[in-house]
Amino acid sequence: MTTWNLQETSCHLLICNGGSCMMRQAEEVTQAIRDEIALLGADKRIHTTRTRCNGRCADACVVIAYPDGIWYKDISPESGRKIVRKHLVGKRLDEQIAYTFDHHFIASGRSVAGKEKIAGRPSLF
Ligand code: FES
Repeated sequence: MTTWNLQETSCHLLICNGGSCMMRQAEEVTQAIRDEIALLGADKRIHTTRTRCNGRCADACVVIAYPDGIWYKDISPESGRKIVRKHLVGKRLDEQIAYTFDHHFIASGRSVAGKEKIAGRPSLF
């Protein structure tokens, strides 16, 4: 068990390690992202967490960056390294964004729309 001091953390990368992402190099993506963070001496600034399925398997391998609220798709070990380098300088990897979050999710147009979450029920909004 570990309890990290996160006071200097400015970016949290959630790396999907669900089944579909694991079939699309999630382990290698996880290792590449963590290796790049270590190479750049950025362990205090970027925190990573392996997650289970994030519900966007068509986008595998999925990586999510917070607090920016950016959902990345089709991440490879190399593009995972690029995400680290971009977020360290306050930028993002525009070409692989599936969704961004700014009060509501905004699809980039690069992903399948996906199924409605409450099929058949009337919306309250
Ligand atoms: S396994 Fe990664 S989004 Fe489903």
